Amino acid sequence: MKVLTKVHRFFIINKKMSFFNSKVASVCFILFQLFAFPTASEAMAGEFEFLSGPNLQLVSRQSVHVTWAVNGSATSWVEYGPDRDHNQIARRSEHGLFDANRPVQKAVIDGLKPGTDYFYRTVSVEIKEYGPYQIEYGDTLYSDTYRFSTAPEETEPFSFLAFNDVHNRPEFIGDVFAREENVDFAAYLGDIMGHIDGRQDIIDYILEPSSRHFAAEVPFFYVRGNHEARGAGARKLIDYIATPDGSFYYTFEYGSVFFIVLDTGEDKPDTNQYYFGLADFDAYRAKQGEWLQKVVESEAFQQAGFRVVLSHWPILLRDVVARDDIHRHGRENTQQHFARPLHDNGVDLQLAGHTHRHEVIVPEEGVSRIYTVVGGGHTGQPGSTYTRVNYREGSLHVLLKSTDGELIEEILIH
Ligand SMILES: [Fe+2]
Repeated sequence: MKVLTKVHRFFIINKKMSFFNSKVASVCFILFQLFAFPTASEAMAGEFEFLSGPNLQLVSRQSVHVTWAVNGSATSWVEYGPDRDHNQIARRSEHGLFDANRPVQKAVIDGLKPGTDYFYRTVSVEIKEYGPYQIEYGDTLYSDTYRFSTAPEETEPFSFLAFNDVHNRPEFIGDVFAREENVDFAAYLGDIMGHIDGRQDIIDYILEPSSRHFAAEVPFFYVRGNHEARGAGARKLIDYIATPDGSFYYTFEYGSVFFIVLDTGEDKPDTNQYYFGLADFDAYRAKQGEWLQKVVESEAFQQAGFRVVLSHWPILLRDVVARDDIHRHGRENTQQHFARPLHDNGVDLQLAGHTHRHEVIVPEEGVSRIYTVVGGGHTGQPGSTYTRVNYREGSLHVLLKSTDGELIEEILIH
C-alpha cells in the first residue's frame, strides 16, 4: 500500500552527506559545499525552503521524473537507490550545465529495473548570488526519504485513479488516497486549475497538494484541460509537467496497456473574443490528428493488451452533448481530427471529464465504439467523481465513484 499518511518534514542540513557512486562532478560540488559554507546552525534557519515536496511523474519501466519547487534560486538533484542509503544521484544537465536558477527543480532517474521498488530524496542547494566568476551557495535542503515502484512488465496487474475538473480544490484527493489501496499511478484529466496566473498557481494547485497527498510515492500523468490554457501563466505549465518530449500530447505504456494522452485544447473557436487573438488550437489539433494517426499505426499500439485514451473531453463519433454553438466548437474540431483514428483502431477505453456531469457511454452504432467514462462534477460540488481502473490479465475493471467513495457505475472490459 502506498498511501501517504505522514506529514512532510523538511530539513536544513549541511554537514551530513551521502556517498555517491556516480556523477563525479556532483560529488566534487558537494565536497566543495561542505568545506566552503556555513553549517545549518550558522545559517539563518527558515530562509530557504521547499515550496512543495517531490512529485513523481511519467513513470516507465526504466525511469521516473521528479519535480519540486523551492522558494529561491537553487541547484538540485535526487539521491536514490534500492534501499534507504540511496547512494546514487540523478542530476539534470543541459548544454553542459547542471540545472541552476530555474523556477522548478527537476531530475530524471533512469536505468531502473521494471516493477522494482526504489528509495529517494530530493536535495536543493540555495544559490545566494550567481555572478560570472563568483557563486555564493547557501543552505542545503533535504526532503524525507520516499519509496516508489517502476512500471511493471507486461501481464502484471496494476491500478490507477483518474481525477478530472478539480478546479483548484485538490484537498479531497488526500481522502481518496487514504481510502483507495494499491494505487500504482494517477492521471489528472485536465482543469485541475481554473486558470494559471503564474508559477505560484502551479505550485499551490498541482505540485504542493499532489506531493502531500500521493505524488511523493505514487507518480502521475498529466492531461491539459481548456482552463489550463487560460491566464498569463498558461505557457509556463509545460515546464512543471513531465512528458516524453515536452508536448502535452504523448503516449506511455504501463504493464501491457498502451495509453494515449490527447490535448483537446480550448473549447471555443480561436476567434472568440475572450482569447484576444492568442489562440491557435484548430491548427494545433490538426497537427495532433496527424500524429495520432501515426500512433495508432504503430506496432506498440497494435500489439498492446489494451489501449486507453486519456483526454480532457471525450472524443465521440457523434457528439451527443448539446450545448450552444460556441462551446461545441472544440469538441467538434477534436471529433474531426481524433475520432476516426481512435474509433477505427480498437481503442478499448476512454477517460475524460470537462462536462461536469458524470456519464458512462457504452459502444453504440454511430455514437462510440469505445467504452467511455466521463468524470462528473466540479470538485467539491455535488456530483463530483473520480475513476479507478484495475488491470488484471485479460480485463480492465473500471469503477466510477463519488468523491465520498460510493460506487456509481462500473464496467468490465475483456
Ligand atoms: Fe473543461
